[in-house]
Amino acid sequence: MNWNNWIRQIHRWTSLVFAVVVAAIFIALGVGKQPAEWVYFLPLFPLAILVPTGLHMFVLPYLSGRRTAG
Ligand code: HEM
Repeated sequence: MNWNNWIRQIHRWTSLVFAVVVAAIFIALGVGKQPAEWVYFLPLFPLAILVPTGLHMFVLPYLSGRRTAG
C-alpha cells in the first residue's frame, strides 16, 4: 500500500470516529442528558486529523500532473 493510500485510510476511519462522537453528543442531548463541557471538544481531535489528510487528498489531483502517484 502506498503513502497516499495510507492517508486515505486514515481519513476514512477517522471520519467514522468523528461521526460517531458527533452522533453520540446529539443523541445524549436528544434524550435530555447534558454532557460535560469537555465532551463538546472531543470531535476536535479527529477533526484535527481529518483537515490535514483531507486537504492532502484535495490537492492530490492537482499535483498528479507534475508528480507520479505514490
Ligand atoms: C474537514 C476537512 C475535510 C477535508 C478538506 C476533506 C477532504 C476530502 C477529500 C479531498 C476527499 C477525497 C475525495 C476524492 O476521492 O476525490 C475526502 C474523502 C473522504 N472524506 Fe473527507 N474531508 C474533510 C473532512 C471529512 C469529514 C468531517 C468526514 C466525515 C465525518 C469525511 C469523510 C470522508 C470520507 C468517508 C471520504 C472517502 C474516503 C475514501 O475514499 O476512503 N471527511 N475528503
